[in-house]
Amino acid sequence: MGSQQSGRPGRRIPGRSRATWALSYGVGATAFRAGARRGDLVARLESDRALQLAPYDVYDELRATPVHRGGVVWASTDHAAVTRVLRSDDFIVGAGGAELPGPLRGLTGRLLDPWAAGPVDPPSMLATNAPDHTRYRRLVTRAFTARAVSGLEDRIRETAERLLDGLDDGSSRSGSADIVERYAALLPVAVIADMLGVPDEMHGRLLEWGNIASVTLDPSLSWRDFRRAEDAMRSLHLWFADHVRALQADPGDDLISRLAVLQGEEQLTDLELRATGLLVLGAGFETTVNLIGNAVATLEAHPEQRAALRDDPSLWAGAVDEVLRHDSPVQMTLRVAQRDTEVLGVEVPARTAVVAYLGGANRDPAVFDDPHAFDLRRPNAGAHLAFSSGAHFCLGASLARREAEVGLRLLYERFPDLAVAGHPVRRDTRVLRGYERLPVALGERVRAG
Ligand code: HEM
Repeated sequence: MGSQQSGRPGRRIPGRSRATWALSYGVGATAFRAGARRGDLVARLESDRALQLAPYDVYDELRATPVHRGGVVWASTDHAAVTRVLRSDDFIVGAGGAELPGPLRGLTGRLLDPWAAGPVDPPSMLATNAPDHTRYRRLVTRAFTARAVSGLEDRIRETAERLLDGLDDGSSRSGSADIVERYAALLPVAVIADMLGVPDEMHGRLLEWGNIASVTLDPSLSWRDFRRAEDAMRSLHLWFADHVRALQADPGDDLISRLAVLQGEEQLTDLELRATGLLVLGAGFETTVNLIGNAVATLEAHPEQRAALRDDPSLWAGAVDEVLRHDSPVQMTLRVAQRDTEVLGVEVPARTAVVAYLGGANRDPAVFDDPHAFDLRRPNAGAHLAFSSGAHFCLGASLARREAEVGLRLLYERFPDLAVAGHPVRRDTRVLRGYERLPVALGERVRAG
């Protein structure tokens, strides 16, 4: 195991927490609110709940130029420009406040509590650049290749069947259930936990901590929500450190056991191992839940396409890609120019932060005909950027696709008449787009086997 990291586990240092919040979220939140009052489009998108729920008209407006020069941050919803930002070496992920003014730059990194580091804090892969990023990524890629994932298919199917049996056991009174809570959230956490050697009894707590911590992805966050998220991250770190110790004593055939015994140049420090493991774990269940939920809601609104899926299950793969395009579970990411550069004719000075709206690029009419329509037979649905592009392209893309395809197909085979009933509630997050609650009537069951 690598060197011990500084910082006392489990204890908040109040001044440090407050300063971390102020630099990472407080400054941004204030700037967005002020910008929104001036009518700045990106600031409005980031601070107005109504636009958060229905951002697509503003995305269209922003597309008037390949890169929109916002008052707080720049942004793009243009497919070609977003692709270039994500793939170009001129842009990096903005770890350590690279976009902040001079004296503040680098301070966030120094303030960071290593026992509460979240998915957008270094050394998470999402917040590191080459060469460290390349090193971490190389260690975990193998577990998530298309080939490795096709080997998991039986396991995904068994897990989905078991969860559907649970839905079917009469505990869902009068045949109704919150399909997010009872299915869409449970399938991904069971699959990724299994891959990481995490025991079944931890699923509930992981979901709870993950839900609280996922707000840290958003650009603005209240002090209160930040503190809750920091506490949840701290619980995750403490639990994960114990998990690693248990696997070192008794290694299994799982990714964390393999990472924990690396030696020599590949060896990870304690913090690197926690950051990598917790990112893979969290990314594994906090995103796919939204894909499955968004698919159920979208198919409810398009009964004729749902009927087509029943008649021809081979359409599921295309349908999943079209949901990813049409209602992207991750709406945006951020990059910072590391030198003066240019994107499709727009000059971008060094240290400019650019929001890459994946959900906006996925509605670009230059790439997708009639982009606001949902069409599961769309020939180029797979050209979406829902999994990002370039060095940080989603590591779990094959796994997410497979979980959604298998999970949705089995859900509708078991409950062909499933229908949304009651009031769906969207999650109150900006980066992640999905449902907090999606009540459904299950209808007549078709027994398995
Ligand atoms: C529908 C489901 C999913 C969506 C929409 C999604 C989306 C994304 C996106 C957009 C990024 C890149 C962010 C950026 O460029 O800044 C990303 C990165 C990542 N995803 Fe996913 N993801 C999903 C499921 C998964 C799953 C199941 C895993 C499980 C392993 C996973 C693991 C990761 C990891 C580890 C990264 C960081 C990669 C890096 O920085 O090199 N994701 N994901």
